[in-house]
Amino acid sequence: MIYTVTFNPSLDYIVSVKDFKLWNTNRTDTELMLPGGKGLNVSTVLKNLGMDSTALGFTAGFVGDEILRRIENIGFKSDFIKLENGCSRINLKLKNYDGTEINGQGPVIEHAHLEALMKKLDQLKAGDILVLAGSIPSSMPTSTYEDVLARLQDRKILTVVDATKNLLTNVLKYHPFLIKPNNHELGELFCLEFNTHEEVIPYAKELQKQGARNVLVSMGGKGAALVAENGEVYTSDAVKGRLVNAVGAGDSMVAGFLTGWLEQHDYAHAFRMALAAGSASAFSELLATKDEIMEIYDQLQV
Ligand SMILES: Nc1ncnc2c1ncn2[C@@H]1O[C@H](COP(=O)(O)OP(=O)(O)OP(=O)(O)O)[C@@H](O)[C@H]1O
Ligand SMILES: [Mg+2]
Repeated sequence: MIYTVTFNPSLDYIVSVKDFKLWNTNRTDTELMLPGGKGLNVSTVLKNLGMDSTALGFTAGFVGDEILRRIENIGFKSDFIKLENGCSRINLKLKNYDGTEINGQGPVIEHAHLEALMKKLDQLKAGDILVLAGSIPSSMPTSTYEDVLARLQDRKILTVVDATKNLLTNVLKYHPFLIKPNNHELGELFCLEFNTHEEVIPYAKELQKQGARNVLVSMGGKGAALVAENGEVYTSDAVKGRLVNAVGAGDSMVAGFLTGWLEQHDYAHAFRMALAAGSASAFSELLATKDEIMEIYDQLQV
């Protein structure tokens, strides 16, 4: 089973407002509500690709209940810990003012809640996959990812970590199966800026030397590079298309990679599925469907 973790899931309220004005009452032209959070995005695209997963994390209050209801509608399993206090967050996103958003805080996660999650992780079995994606809420220790991986050590569980800065470098010693920095996040680790496949490869190899098994560097419209555990390096440009909404392209890529890997245990196929899923989500308003992904898969040569 694949497990994804979303510590602080949200209900995203995505609206467009014509001529948005500060200090005024503005009215929406279009409205959309979706469950949000990187782990939930990964679970959604896995579901679209026909793969089962269980989403873990914390929910609270009526927003938490609505998130769970929507997850059920999408059709993947979840086993969230419901907190007694507080409320899961609503994130307001202004669609036609790219990147303008007001994100809520979410509930306070206490030590006992985290311990309850750790107990659930104790049930994972050899061969299971755990995806940890995104930032850690401020009420939780910054060592949470490391603590989780330390607890999973020596249990033959494959881990995927999509995180930035120390959150990422601190887990390398636990040999995550996959890490997926984008080129900017990779650059940040080395105080450099990367724009080409050739530039990222030596640094992806360095992260592999530090412990990561597979390093997938996404590069937005420039495609991606994979330094794989088998010693092979794969690079590809992205297919050309109209960018509609890049939010969740990275999460889709993780879902595509896992699906491809589980299907064939072949890195070229996993890389191609990853690229296809990332681009298909970038070219679509919502997260990509299987048809959208496979259409792009057929156009790629890896
Ligand atoms: N404009 C684009 N055109 C074609 N493909 C794209 C585009 N943007 C993203 N992709 C595809 O999606 C993959 C992941 O995108 P990106 O590098 O932006 O991830 P990210 O920054 O981690 O995103 P996020 O964290 O918001 O999910 C890219 O490697 C590429 O395959
Ligand atoms: Mg990302």
